[in-house]
Amino acid sequence: MTVHLLGVGPGDPELLTLRAARLLGRAEAVVHDRLIGPDVLGYASPTAERYDVGKTPGHPGPTQRDINELLVQLGARLDCVVRVKGGDPTVFGRGAEEVEACHRAGIRTEVVPGITSSIAGPTAAGVSLTRRGTASGFCVVTAHQDPRSDPVKWSALAHSGLTIVVLMGARGAPRVADALLGAGMQADTPVAVVTSATLPEQQTCRTALGDLGTTPLRAPSVIVIGDVAAAEASLLAEEVLSGDPQGPGTPGVAGVAQPGVGCTGTRHLAIPHVAGTPPG
Ligand SMILES: C[S@@+](CC[C@H](N)C(=O)[O-])C[C@H]1O[C@@H](n2cnc3c(N)ncnc32)[C@H](O)[C@@H]1O
Repeated sequence: MTVHLLGVGPGDPELLTLRAARLLGRAEAVVHDRLIGPDVLGYASPTAERYDVGKTPGHPGPTQRDINELLVQLGARLDCVVRVKGGDPTVFGRGAEEVEACHRAGIRTEVVPGITSSIAGPTAAGVSLTRRGTASGFCVVTAHQDPRSDPVKWSALAHSGLTIVVLMGARGAPRVADALLGAGMQADTPVAVVTSATLPEQQTCRTALGDLGTTPLRAPSVIVIGDVAAAEASLLAEEVLSGDPQGPGTPGVAGVAQPGVGCTGTRHLAIPHVAGTPPG
C-alpha cells in the first residue's frame, strides 16, 4: 500500500543508505531503471517481483505514463513497492511526477533521499565543489533541456563565480561549452569529467572549457566546470604527490585521449567500510 521512491546513490552499493537497503530487502516489487547496477539490486529479496522500466538507447522503452500506471497498480496490490532511482530521486529523476500519480490514485508514498551523483561523483574523483578562496558555491544543471522548462541561463552562470556541475551532458557538452564561452567564460577554465563515478570503471578526464566541445564523452558522466576542477586542486593524494596534472592513470584508456585532455582510470574511493551484513 506504500510506494517508496528510493534514491540508491551513484552506483557503489556501499553508498546505499541504511533505509534504502532495508526497504530493498522488504520490497515485494522492485521497479528500476537500466542504470541501476546488479550490486544494488542484489539487496532486493530474491522473491520480489522485478520490473525493468529503463530506456535503452535506440529503444523508446515504457513512457512515464506507463511507469506511473505500473506504480499505481502495484501500490494497490502490494504492501511494499520500491521504485529505485539512481542518485537522489528528486534530482532529474522525475520523482515528483510519480509521487503525484500515486497520490491521485490514493496510494501512499515515501521519498527516501539518496546520495546524488552530482556531488558524490566529483567527491569520489577528488574534486571539491566548494573550496575556501576558490568557489563559495555550486549549481547543478542539466544539459538536456526539456522544452517545457525554463531554459538554463548559461550567461548568468558564466558570471556567477559558482562551480557549474552538469548532468546528462555526455552529448550536450559542446552546446554547454559554446554557451559558456559565448557568455565570456575563459577558454582555459578547468573542467573535470567524472565517468561511471564510484563504480570500478570510474574515470576522470581533465580538460579546459575551450576543449570540452571536441572531447568525446561517455555516459554516465558528471561534468565539473570551474577552478576547483583543476588537477592542482585535487584532493587525491596520488595526484597531489605525483605533481602530474594528468594524475597517475593511463591517458586515453577509454578512447577519450585528446590534446589537452588527461584521464585517470584509477578508482579513487576512500570510504570507511563498516562491518555488517546486508539485510535479507
Ligand atoms: C537522469 S539523471 C539522474 C540523476 C540522479 N537522480 C542523481 O541524483 O544522481 C542521470 C545523470 O546523472 C549522472 N550520473 C548518474 N550516475 C552517475 C555515475 N555513476 N557517474 C557519473 N554520472 C552519473 C549523469 O550525468 C547521468 O546522465
